Amino acid sequence: MMNVLVTRPIPGNYLDNHENFHIQIFPGKGDVHQWIISNIVDADGILITLNEKIDREIIDHATRLKVISTYSVGYDHIDVEYAKSRGITVTYTPEVLTEATADLIFGIMLAAARNIASGDSLIRHDGWHSGWKPDFMLGSEVHGKTLGIIGMGRIGNAVLKRSKGFDMKVLYYSRSIHNVDAEYVDLNYLLSESDFVIIALDLNNETFHFMNYERISKMKKSAFLINGTRGKVVNEEDIVKALKDHIIRGAALDVFEDEPIDSKNPLTSLENVVLTPHLGSATYETRDKMAETAVTNLFNVLNGKKPLYKL
Ligand code: GLV
Repeated sequence: MMNVLVTRPIPGNYLDNHENFHIQIFPGKGDVHQWIISNIVDADGILITLNEKIDREIIDHATRLKVISTYSVGYDHIDVEYAKSRGITVTYTPEVLTEATADLIFGIMLAAARNIASGDSLIRHDGWHSGWKPDFMLGSEVHGKTLGIIGMGRIGNAVLKRSKGFDMKVLYYSRSIHNVDAEYVDLNYLLSESDFVIIALDLNNETFHFMNYERISKMKKSAFLINGTRGKVVNEEDIVKALKDHIIRGAALDVFEDEPIDSKNPLTSLENVVLTPHLGSATYETRDKMAETAVTNLFNVLNGKKPLYKL
């Protein structure tokens, strides 16, 4: 019998009918890190989400672990190199969430530019007294504007596709040049020319705090910064300061340095930012596909087959 640990219930019934495996799900109470440490010793596989940090301590407690399957495209929560050095396969769920994430990124960009979230909130707080007025709640146009995409991986590409329907001019900056219908430019040029700057970078040692006050200051005063990949790619204190100082017109953030955030976070006292709680892949369809992919990855490795996606 092989043992599998699962840190959170996942959508669908993909974990059912695996008779040869003993599947143990974290009961939800207590410290999940501690639960993993206590149970990893005789686990053959573990299915995690991006909330569970898989560090050296956990990996050192494992004696027969063959696979770490993360229910996410990001893998900054896993010490991948150390796991691999111990012969553990690390799998993830790219591709299936690309389109949903790009939809959300585009959505929060529109919400910030056109006051969609603040307009909703105004009505709910009985703040709409004037009726329709020529100068009421004016926002920025999106169509025909210049979009700067930082990072041209899967998500950057999917955002680019959407921008075509909005007749946007697209600049991008990335580690390498891609064969895409957008202009590859120097970072400073992108920052100074774009009306919307979209961060589409994953988090690693090179991208930590990639967007800081100095870089934000290079953006147009009328521009917006949008982040939908990982919070730590943007220095949060710096974006708060930049928004307070009106260095840029606004921002839209789906991810934060230390999630979850609440109303104590200084971002929540600013009017010129749209905040959503890490919803990039949060659709019924995508979360189901992520479950299927993560479970297939897990059992494929345990059954001696190739996983769909490994690192
Ligand atoms: C979401 O942020 C993911 O990495 O899947």
